[in-house]
Amino acid sequence: MVSKVYELMSNHVSIRKYKDEDVKQEDLNMILRGAQFAPSSINGQQWSVVVIRDKETKKKMADLTGGQKWIEEAPVFLVFLADYYRTALALEKENKEFKNMESIEATMVGSVDVGIAFANAMNVAESLGYGIVPIGAVRREPMEIIELLELPKYVYPVLGMCIGIPDEKPMKKPRLPEKAVIHNEKYNKDLNDLVDQYDETIREYMDTRTQGKDVRTWSQGISSVYENVYFPKVYPSLKQQGFTNDK
Ligand SMILES: Cc1cc2nc3c(=O)[nH]c(=O)nc-3n(C[C@H](O)[C@H](O)[C@H](O)COP(=O)(O)O)c2cc1C
Repeated sequence: MVSKVYELMSNHVSIRKYKDEDVKQEDLNMILRGAQFAPSSINGQQWSVVVIRDKETKKKMADLTGGQKWIEEAPVFLVFLADYYRTALALEKENKEFKNMESIEATMVGSVDVGIAFANAMNVAESLGYGIVPIGAVRREPMEIIELLELPKYVYPVLGMCIGIPDEKPMKKPRLPEKAVIHNEKYNKDLNDLVDQYDETIREYMDTRTQGKDVRTWSQGISSVYENVYFPKVYPSLKQQGFTNDK
């Protein structure tokens, strides 16, 4: 039997072009409630989300993320936040010092909680026929986004999500070979051949998708990003929000 959830996930593709149609409020409510069912570390629920429908704010978001016009065009833009604001209130109530914010663990936990909630929301949205694209570039100009959304201390923008009715049908992007990702009992470090194999797969995929205009391999694509620290404002802005990452 093929699981319906598996089938849905296996058809995921990011959508960056939307019809001029709204996301129904009842659908959005289900998407957001779906996110709330996510498990979280110590049930701390170290995440939350800002729902943006306002055109001006979406325009600003598109600019702040480096000109990603699909943010403006999507009827709904969600900003998922690592969120320890409520946690801080709980510690204050219990007269306790919030020592864990000194640890990089707080940043990891908040990011993991966001990731799981995000995936839940994405799956509900796609099951309702919407298309989404994650937007990591909310960490490109974090201080400006923090100001724009009036985020308090202990809250940090981790990942955005555009939602809308798809107006394109992109090719599904091939994934790494299973053996490069799924290890049996112990980590298999002998992965060069599998990377070569995937480079060829992506070269062919890019060739077809761009009609020969861009034939980057996977290694070339990711190297051109990772040869630099591409969001250098993350560390200082995290510190400013109280994620001190000293320990
Ligand atoms: C954490 C994360 C951040 C991403 N950031 C962006 C982004 O800023 N802009 C964008 O257009 N796509 C972004 N993406 C989409 C990826 O490029 C996309 O998921 C990946 O290429 C695989 O393609 P697929 O989603 O169509 O399968 C992001 C995806 C993830 C998971």
